[in-house]
Amino acid sequence: MLRKKYIFILGLVIALGVGGLVTTVGLGFVLKAWWGTPFEAFGFGGSPEQPVAFPHTVHAGTGLLTDSEGNPKLDLEGKEMNGLGLDCIYCHRAVTESPYAGVPPVEFCVYCHKTVGSDLPEVKKLLEAWDSQTPIRWERVHRLPDHVRFVHEAHMRYFTQPGNILPSGEQAMVASAVCSTCHGEIGTMTEVKQVRSLKMGDCVDCHRANNAPTDCTTCHY
Ligand code: HEC
Ligand code: HEC
Ligand code: HEC
Ligand code: HEC
Ligand code: HEC
Repeated sequence: MLRKKYIFILGLVIALGVGGLVTTVGLGFVLKAWWGTPFEAFGFGGSPEQPVAFPHTVHAGTGLLTDSEGNPKLDLEGKEMNGLGLDCIYCHRAVTESPYAGVPPVEFCVYCHKTVGSDLPEVKKLLEAWDSQTPIRWERVHRLPDHVRFVHEAHMRYFTQPGNILPSGEQAMVASAVCSTCHGEIGTMTEVKQVRSLKMGDCVDCHRANNAPTDCTTCHY
């Protein structure tokens, strides 16, 4: 009799324990979905391998360039090289007018690269793609689920308007100054990676802070 009761209590304790664990794990997932950074295993913090190793450091950055061993890169005259400091909008042209920022076609890169760096292995891949007229299929780094709507244009327009300041406290004079709010310092990244959660809680927080709409249909189809 006593034994049965004991087993019952033991069973109850285990059931509560497992239930608690399931609830905690479940709650953890829900909190992650709203606020958290996606799990490492799902790619956050990492960079997919690209068909051509395109470095933002060289094109958009202004810092001193180094090779894979960390030694300074030298130009043909033996001088240390800095990034070109090209504007984000120079390549991501659609960003101020459309939902998508877009990546330029191979032809755009070839304006420079039919001469510049044409002996470098990654540039050779680019020139081969051009010769065979095959588009480069860039792997996406940021990707929201299909049920979510995001519009670059609205954010660019709002944050470059005089009086509307960025969360950093600065007034963005040009659209490219807005990018780092969500994408971080891309000009310092050899490979682009996602640095901000861009989960629902993150989006909604910023919308509230700026009196932007927060009804479900703003961001959901
Ligand atoms: C010379 C052209 C060029 C310039 C200048 C440039 N980009 Fe890019 N960008 C690319 C290409 C090509 C890719 C696709 C390959 C990759 O992801 O690295 C890309 C990818 C990206 C991505 C990742 C897109 C994704 O899949 O999620 C972001 C974000 C980005 N760029 C932001 C910027 C920002 C911010 C600047 C300015 C600081 C900038 N880019 C300047 C060409 C450029
Ligand atoms: C308010 C946050 C925010 C700002 C500001 C922002 N982005 Fe994005 N960006 C995103 C999100 C979110 C995605 C993923 C969108 C999706 O999957 O539909 C994205 C995707 C991208 C992509 C890949 C998909 C595409 O649209 O072509 C590129 C390239 C990119 N951003 C470049 C830029 C550049 C360049 C700037 C500045 C001129 C910028 N972004 C400003 C949040 C932002
Ligand atoms: C305004 C001119 C210009 C444009 C446009 C341009 N690049 Fe470059 N790119 C350069 C210069 C300069 C270098 C550095 C060459 C060197 O290291 O000798 C470079 C280097 C590279 C490298 C080699 C990096 C390395 O060190 O191995 C790749 C790959 C590359 N670019 C890809 C692209 C792609 C893809 C595009 C189009 C989205 C593009 N570039 C557009 C000027 C440009
Ligand atoms: C840095 C602050 C900030 C972040 C982060 C942000 N937004 Fe926004 N968003 C705004 C502001 C401000 C507006 C309002 C622009 C206006 O008033 O026209 C806006 C407008 C929009 C619009 C257009 C609304 C319309 O109908 O005109 C959509 C869609 C949107 N945001 C989706 C998102 C999504 C999805 C995310 C997260 C992935 C996000 N936003 C992250 C500040 C932000
Ligand atoms: C400012 C933009 C924004 C608004 C407003 C917004 N959402 Fe979301 N929502 C998102 C984003 C971004 C995601 C995707 C998050 C992720 O990657 O898990 C999302 C995901 C979701 C999910 C799926 C969660 C998951 O784990 O997949 C549901 C359900 C949802 N939203 C419901 C709502 C409802 C209901 C409202 C209105 C009360 C709302 N959302 C308003 C941006 C928004």
